Amino acid sequence: MSYNLLKGKKGIISGALDESSIAWKVAMRCFEEGAAITLTNAPIAMRMGKIKDLATAVNAEIVPADATSTEDLKKLFQRAMEIHGGGIDFVLHSIGQSPNVRKEKPYTDLNYDFYAKTLDISATSFHKMIQAAYRLDAINEGGSIAALTYIAAQRTYPNYNDMADAKALLESIARGWGYHYGIRKKVRVNTVSQSPTYTTAGSGVTGFDVFYNYANSLSPLGNATADECADYCVVLFSDLTRKVTMQNLYHDGGYSTTGITQPVIDLISSKNE
Ligand SMILES: NC(=O)c1ccc[n+]([C@@H]2O[C@H](COP(=O)([O-])OP(=O)(O)OC[C@H]3O[C@@H](n4cnc5c(N)ncnc54)[C@H](O)[C@@H]3O)[C@@H](O)[C@H]2O)c1
Repeated sequence: MSYNLLKGKKGIISGALDESSIAWKVAMRCFEEGAAITLTNAPIAMRMGKIKDLATAVNAEIVPADATSTEDLKKLFQRAMEIHGGGIDFVLHSIGQSPNVRKEKPYTDLNYDFYAKTLDISATSFHKMIQAAYRLDAINEGGSIAALTYIAAQRTYPNYNDMADAKALLESIARGWGYHYGIRKKVRVNTVSQSPTYTTAGSGVTGFDVFYNYANSLSPLGNATADECADYCVVLFSDLTRKVTMQNLYHDGGYSTTGITQPVIDLISSKNE
């Protein structure tokens, strides 16, 4: 169902690789709500993913940009402003990757070149993205910027590895930019802390099924799906959340504040019998 919450708004959505990507669902929902969209992803994702199908579905141009390249990001905002004939109202950062996770290097034996790449791709890119927009004055008054994160920034999940450090940095960058862009143009900057979700990036984490099932059992409402995350992003991009900024917003069915649930008690009790 559409509420026309984003009618007349223009947005940039990064990170849609295939139908399972959270960004894919966000793009579809923003389009349904009346937004005009520009899609972006790393040049390699153009070849590997299905972003062209999404572009057709949401009537969007794709502007390839490596999110670690300040030059690419500058061109992204310049092109998006050309396409939309002016400023941008919302931006989604939906980018994550860890070469250490990919090469199965544990947290106790990290490769530091990989570590620097993890931080650059998954966190510093958020700073670079916003700085590119800020320098070009690309975001309209009252605009909204969001990045996707995970609760491993606050609590330890051993197999989430150096991505946890990246998420902590990402959330801090949202607060830093939320201050500066808020002062300058009332632009909101938030992170959405999403439940485990079956996607290419998500499934790369060792033991993802256990992650997923544990969170689901410990959430009174159950895990939040990618479609539900897209609904939440729409609200954040809309004018209904004009004073929400510099927050890490849990979108996790209640997981982050639940100590224990009956299903978890039952599971542990059955193991002790
Ligand atoms: N899946 C989960 O369980 C989960 C939970 C919480 C948060 N998140 C976060 O959601 C975001 C989106 O991930 P997803 O789960 O939809 O997986 P995904 O694999 O579909 O998306 C990750 C995207 O990052 C892009 N990317 C990687 N390197 C890039 C670069 N250098 N420049 C530009 N783009 C680059 C990839 O091409 C891909 O489109 C990530 O930040 C992830 O950490 C995911």
